[in-house]
Amino acid sequence: METVLSGIRSTGNLHLGNYFGAIQNFIKMQHEHRCFFFIADYHSLTTHPTPEDLHQNVKQVLVEYLAAGIDPEIATLYIQSDIPEIAELYLLLSMNAYMGELERCTTFKDKARKQPDNINAGLLTYPVLMAADILIHKATKVPVGKDQEQHLEMARNFGNRFNRLYKTNYFPEPYAYNFGSDLIKIPGLDGSTKMGKSEGEGNAIYLADDPKVIRKKIMRAVTDSGPTEINQIKPQPIENLFQIMKVVSSEDTRNFFEEKYNQCEIRYGDLKKQIAEDVIAFTNPLREKILDLSANEVYINKVAKMGAEKAHESASKTVKEVREIIGFKPFFS
Ligand code: TRP
Repeated sequence: METVLSGIRSTGNLHLGNYFGAIQNFIKMQHEHRCFFFIADYHSLTTHPTPEDLHQNVKQVLVEYLAAGIDPEIATLYIQSDIPEIAELYLLLSMNAYMGELERCTTFKDKARKQPDNINAGLLTYPVLMAADILIHKATKVPVGKDQEQHLEMARNFGNRFNRLYKTNYFPEPYAYNFGSDLIKIPGLDGSTKMGKSEGEGNAIYLADDPKVIRKKIMRAVTDSGPTEINQIKPQPIENLFQIMKVVSSEDTRNFFEEKYNQCEIRYGDLKKQIAEDVIAFTNPLREKILDLSANEVYINKVAKMGAEKAHESASKTVKEVREIIGFKPFFS
């Protein structure tokens, strides 16, 4: 059985794009592989959250993943900072990560440009921590988006370099695990091709959004003045709305509006109302689960503890072996 691992940033709530683009696949994978999913709270420190925000964000992400269907009895779902061995492996790996390659990393350059007042060392060594996340469980399949490919390449380099230095084949190579044609991309409501949190508040529909909020966001989605020719090709913003329908509405509903569009009889107000109701029918059960789980401290604590125990078992074994390979020999026991 192959080991799958993915880290989830603990900033911002989950939106439909995350759900259909990633989580739905995590839920499938948990039955097919040895899966580790964790909340990357060490990573989130690069932006210096307050202690209250840090905790609240981690809790929110944990609850939302559980609500979405990650089964903590099957997959190992844990919080990164519960496993200090990750920090130790990060330190060990950092000894053969080079300044030049870290500075050349595109995500580092982007961040440095965007936050010139906070170019901290954690930002620079972000790929080393991510490599530690992956290598600590010797994961080989890493479901991540395109923007993480370079980080994965660096993780392979760090692992291979370690292997070469110590003449071993201890770390396997992790690769991005793409879902091929199954990958569903959810567009934004602002006419852009991507739903995301960095694209602005009105662009994304969150799983925890209130129905009222969802209606408002969808009614405000970008459209145009309507088709003027029969069977006209849809411009991006309209295509986007139909794309959202594809995941939440029935085929009949979609065909009905397609037909209206093709005949130049569509009323965007009706289309949006339909989408809003279908989105709500989909998100509302999730939202209710999120609310229930958020109030259930006992269960959340139990899940976090169970995840930490399972992750710790695998992580401590790796760190112990890595220490031996490097040559740390205890002078006492
Ligand atoms: N860097 C990833 C992101 O921004 C999150 C992450 C941290 C991660 N550690 C990881 C993803 C390990 C996969 C494996 O989305």
